[in-house]
Amino acid sequence: MTIAMDGAQAMGTLHNKRGLDLLRDPAHNKGTAFSLAERHLLGLEGLLPPQVESLETQVQRSWEAFSHLPGDLERFAFVDGVRRSNLVLFHRFLADHLEAVLPIVYTPTVGAVIQGFSRSYRTPIEGVFLSADQRGRLREVLGNAITGPVDLVLVTDSEGILGIGDQGVGGIHICQGKLAVYTLCAGLDPRRVLAVALDVGTNRPSLLADPLYPGLRQQRLEGESYLAFVEEFVEAVEQECPGACLHWEDFGNSHARLLLERYRWRLPSFNDDIQGTSGVASAAVLAACRGLGQPLAEQRIVIFGAGTAGCGIAQGLLRLLEATGLSPLEARRRIWALDRPGLLLEGMDGLTPAAADLARDLAEVHAWPRDGQGRIGLQTVVEQVRPTVLIGTSTVAGAFSQPVVSAMARQCPNPVILPLSNPTSLAEATPASLLEWSDGRALVATGSPFEPVPQPDGLRQIGQCNNCFLFPGLGFAAVAVGLQAISDGMIDAGLEALAQRIPASRDPRAALMPALSDAAEVGAAVAEAVARAGVREGLAPAGVTEDMVEQLLQRARWTPTYSG
Ligand code: NAI
Repeated sequence: MTIAMDGAQAMGTLHNKRGLDLLRDPAHNKGTAFSLAERHLLGLEGLLPPQVESLETQVQRSWEAFSHLPGDLERFAFVDGVRRSNLVLFHRFLADHLEAVLPIVYTPTVGAVIQGFSRSYRTPIEGVFLSADQRGRLREVLGNAITGPVDLVLVTDSEGILGIGDQGVGGIHICQGKLAVYTLCAGLDPRRVLAVALDVGTNRPSLLADPLYPGLRQQRLEGESYLAFVEEFVEAVEQECPGACLHWEDFGNSHARLLLERYRWRLPSFNDDIQGTSGVASAAVLAACRGLGQPLAEQRIVIFGAGTAGCGIAQGLLRLLEATGLSPLEARRRIWALDRPGLLLEGMDGLTPAAADLARDLAEVHAWPRDGQGRIGLQTVVEQVRPTVLIGTSTVAGAFSQPVVSAMARQCPNPVILPLSNPTSLAEATPASLLEWSDGRALVATGSPFEPVPQPDGLRQIGQCNNCFLFPGLGFAAVAVGLQAISDGMIDAGLEALAQRIPASRDPRAALMPALSDAAEVGAAVAEAVARAGVREGLAPAGVTEDMVEQLLQRARWTPTYSG
């Protein structure tokens, strides 16, 4: 680098920031990694200590600070501070210390951060808040918050956050956590993404009564007003971020599916709670079947908790069952779903359309025992159905009790059990209990991270059914190739790529999900499979062929290194 270069050239990027403005811009700040020549050119002399440091040294300093902090909330605040000041350092730090840092910026810690949002909120937050009182002006407000081209918009209305429900505008942190995961696992350019919180109010009384809550203090919009608000938002995205992929995150059960179906063919979009969760859980079931040498079509699958995730998983499994040659009716007969009213049965009132699709025939259960309120509970279902696969998406801690699991394990040599509810405290069971109650025979993957469990034949690694194994490759493929929509076929191609990389697909005693340290490798494989499927289905721009996919993905991939 020569002194004759101007500031923008010296940075290797096009911008004309100098001095403090540059140090305050996370997309271009290098901190102590600015060379002496850059410091001279860019008006940084006197603003940095004299040592010029490498990115590796900056990561090392960050790690020293991070690892001495007393708790996860302090660690979140620290990492969030790095993100706000230097994007390259943030992403390199995350990549180099993945297993320690990912649970901090994403689940489970981010859940606790969101619950304390009223007290932890600090401006500026790199995201957009669009609120119900800005109706009619959303395009203008969105345009105001955008500083450059946008490839992907990650939006939440915070109604169904993790297992902790309505969190007002706090869900912006989930969006930011997931955007970090996109970059980490697939290489999405973090300067071309947008986190959006739709503030339609909150129905959580504690937030409405909290003088420090920074969101709208009103009941959530409902019905047509809600839908009109979302429609205006989507139009604003189409106008201000043309071609961008739209990722729907943590919408409430009553809206999630409706919005997905309404918009999925209008712009490239998907709902991670429905399709991402479904893909990851289905990949786990597929891998378990392969590891155990059992056909998927012969599984008897019980899903406990028929909300957004549970119904999404059921739909994904139904597609895979049909792909084995079963008719739609035969496929449906392999799945039993329960919710608050017990086993879902035809004619039940108050079921969402997705849950009603899973209802079983009354004739099938006429002789099954019911409780005092006429419900058929999980214990009875397990005894009657003799399931081979049990999936928990209920947020009911401990629902997979010893009697339930023992009954399952009595009838099935290798029960596949996925207690997916988050956070950790809401898991339907712990892996240690599941292995104990099944004499070590269960294949287990969880929603939250769990420590390995000692078994007589060694430590059993517990795979985490983390959506980070699927959604980054899915969204990144859509962005890199310019796909017009995200089809079921693309999702199935992505989950197949994931299933092939699950260790238990080769050895049932191995983990039923890849290790987090392999997330980037899995993300690359998923992206390629998804992109190829999209091209095959005719969803790519004219002239794009499968031969071009690898190059397009490579060209779009961002890596955390300093330019210049
Ligand atoms: P949701 O609120 O849409 O669904 C939960 C369902 O459980 C509701 O239908 C509710 O009525 C039902 N339920 C509550 N109490 C019950 C009871 N006693 N018996 C039977 N059913 C009961 O929430 P969502 O989004 O489906 O998430 C559910 C859980 O799954 C959350 O903890 C979430 O964090 C977790 N999850 C895990 C993922 C993963 O591991 N990759 C991905 C997405 C969600």
